[in-house]
Amino acid sequence: MKIIGTGSAVPTMTVSNDDLSKFLDTNDAWITTRTGIKTRHLLSTEDLYDLAVDASIKAIKASGLRPDQIDFLLVSNVANRHITPGLSCIVQKRIGLSCAGLDINVACAGFVNALMLADGMMKAGRAKNILILCAEEPTKYCNWHERDCSVLFGDGAGAVVLTEGNAFKDVNLTMISDRDVLYYERGMETTPFESTYVKGQPLVMKGKELFRTAVSESAKDIQTILNRAHLTADDINWFMLHQANKRIIEGIRNIVGGPEEKYPTVIEKYGNTSSASIPIMLDEMMRDNKIHQGDKIVMSAFGAGFVSAACWWEWEF
Ligand code: COA
Repeated sequence: MKIIGTGSAVPTMTVSNDDLSKFLDTNDAWITTRTGIKTRHLLSTEDLYDLAVDASIKAIKASGLRPDQIDFLLVSNVANRHITPGLSCIVQKRIGLSCAGLDINVACAGFVNALMLADGMMKAGRAKNILILCAEEPTKYCNWHERDCSVLFGDGAGAVVLTEGNAFKDVNLTMISDRDVLYYERGMETTPFESTYVKGQPLVMKGKELFRTAVSESAKDIQTILNRAHLTADDINWFMLHQANKRIIEGIRNIVGGPEEKYPTVIEKYGNTSSASIPIMLDEMMRDNKIHQGDKIVMSAFGAGFVSAACWWEWEF
């Protein structure tokens, strides 16, 4: 398969590190040096569904296809205010689609996992044109009275349209069951029969442990796909990594190799937008004409689970 259209959308409100320091015990210097983040976009007047629709319509427009030519909608979303129906059902009609779809939750690694599914569906002949939408509002599950998680995240949506082609080469998925490093637990209704009711709580994160695992597992995934393709870091034009922390990206680069210029970032503007981070960055790079025919591109993402995933492309338009 190949990508023939990209789109993205972020909320209109921009919040700087200085804005956060007005109500949290934090400061621009700490956030910048520890994470690379300068600003993030937060949902205020619009909602996640608006961003999801906006990013999707842009991607379809860029692809040159009509909405009725999309055969399947794959949505990556960790949480939104609806537990059911899925986000794909909620936005399908507003995007102008009539095809079937489904939601996946593989945390921040959702985009690369969705690519794996799309590739399988195309190879099985089940769909020719697929829209992948990653729409995330991680700021809605942080505790905004604490500085540990709330400074890291931003809201946003990124979408791509895929069709048949030979650009997508390989993918490697990893799952290490360890809920405790990063989780958000929602409270559910109580029943008269339940004796173990768990009240919901905002995102819990073991930052240092997560940092170390993210660096080592992402580097392993990347080396696995490079080895399978008999490639080295020198052969790769772009390493598009999940935008969780600039220092995590540097840590991965120290193991995998290659100059800083091959590791683009948008984290300084958007913070960590979960599974939307790679498609948002890809959309910006496409619009800036940074990606060329034949470019070898590695994507690698990681997050709660612990899950990680990497894939590589030889770009075709
Ligand atoms: N502002 C100011 N100070 C802060 C702070 C904040 N927002 N958050 C923590 N601190 C303080 C700590 O209290 C600690 O103070 P102390 O030394 O007096 O105890 C100090 O800064 C260092 O904290 P520490 O947790 O050791 O910082 P760190 O270098 O590990 O960076 C993270 C913290 C969260 C940025 C880093 O661990 C990280 O990025 N982890 C991965 C997070 C992630 O990617 N999550 C999503 C995965 S998809």
